[in-house]
Amino acid sequence: MPAFSRELGIDLGTLNTVVAEGKQILLEEPTVVAIVVNEQKMVEWGHVARDMLGRVPENIEVTRPMLHGVIADYEITENLLKSLIKKVTGPMFLFRPRIMITVPYGITSVESRAVHEAGLGAGSRDVYLIQQPLAAALGIDLPINTPSGNMIICLGGGTTQAAVLAMNGIVTAETTHTAGLKLDEAIIAYIRRKYGLVIGQPTAEQLKIRIGAAVPQDEQQTMEIQGQDQVSGLPRPASLTTDEIMDSLQEPLEDIVATTRRVLEKTPPELISDIIDRGVALCGGSAQLKGIDKYLTKALGIPAYLVDNPTTCTAEGAARGLAMREVLRRNLPPV
Ligand SMILES: Nc1ncnc2c1ncn2[C@@H]1O[C@H](COP(=O)(O)OP(=O)(O)OP(=O)(O)O)[C@@H](O)[C@H]1O
Ligand SMILES: [Mg+2]
Repeated sequence: MPAFSRELGIDLGTLNTVVAEGKQILLEEPTVVAIVVNEQKMVEWGHVARDMLGRVPENIEVTRPMLHGVIADYEITENLLKSLIKKVTGPMFLFRPRIMITVPYGITSVESRAVHEAGLGAGSRDVYLIQQPLAAALGIDLPINTPSGNMIICLGGGTTQAAVLAMNGIVTAETTHTAGLKLDEAIIAYIRRKYGLVIGQPTAEQLKIRIGAAVPQDEQQTMEIQGQDQVSGLPRPASLTTDEIMDSLQEPLEDIVATTRRVLEKTPPELISDIIDRGVALCGGSAQLKGIDKYLTKALGIPAYLVDNPTTCTAEGAARGLAMREVLRRNLPPV
C-alpha cells in the first residue's frame, strides 16, 4: 500500500490498544503511559510503561488514560494516539493517515466527540468512529449485511458489550462495566475474605488467566501467591485452586448474563431464531477465560463460541469499516 494512503483501524481499549491496516495487525500495546509528574510530560507508553507499573520513583506516574472504554485523560490519550500513529506510519506527517477508532456502545456524544478530537489532534487527516460490537462483527466476518440476526458479546477489560446486529447495524445492545478488571476485583475480594490476605490486581489477573475458569474443570490446578496479611501487614503465602477462582467469579459472570438477557429480551423474535441457529460469538480478551463459552451456552440456552481472533477482531473490523465507510455511513456514531 502506498505510503500516502495509510488507512488505520484503531481499537482504543481500556487496557489494550490494537492497530490494524487491511488484514494486518501493525501494533498491540497496553493502553498505559508513564508521565513525569511535574512536567506532565509522557516519557514512555505501551509495554514499556506497563512494565513500570508499581515500580517507579515519586516523580513518575504510570496511568491508564482510558476508563470503561472512554477517555479519562484527554491530553494523555491524544499523546498516546500520536505516539502510536507515529510508530506505525513513521515520522511522516506530510501525508497524514485516515483512521477509524472504535468506541463502546452507548457512550455519550460528548464522550465520542472527545475520541474524534483526540484522533485529529494526534495528526490524522480524517477520523471516523465505529461502535465496538459492529467493528468486532466485521472483524470476524459475521454476515451482518443481511436482514438475518447475529449476536456478539465483546468481553474486554473495562466493558462488556452484548449486541444483536443485522443490515450492517446494531439492532439492540447493552454495555456493562462488568468485565476483566471487575473479575480481578472479585478475586481480590474473595482472597481478602477467605484468607485475610491483600493482593494486587496483577496477581489477581494471573490467577484468573493461569488457573481460573467459569465452569468446573476436570483438572484442578493450583497457584501459590504471596499476599499481605490484612492485620499484621506482613507477607504470607497462600495456595489457590481452580474451584476457588471459579467461585469468586460467579457474581460478575452473573451480571454479564443479566446484561445479555436484557438484550435478548429487547430483540425481535424473528432475529432470535436466527441467533439460536448461528450461536453467539464471543470476543475480547476476557472471552478467553476458560469455560466461559460453556458457561454462557448454559446460562443463555444458546450456543456460545469463542472466535479465532478474539483480541484483534475489533481493530481488524475497524480497518475494514474504514474501507466500507460509505456503506456503513448511517450506522456510524455522528461526531
Ligand atoms: N486467558 C485469559 N483468561 C481470562 N481473561 C483474560 C485472558 N487473557 C486476557 N484476559 C483479560 O482480558 C482483558 C483485556 O481484554 P481486552 O484487551 O479485550 O480489553 P480492552 O479492549 O482493552 O478493554 P475494553 O474493550 O473493555 O475497553 C483483561 O482483563 C485480561 O485480564
Ligand atoms: Mg476492547
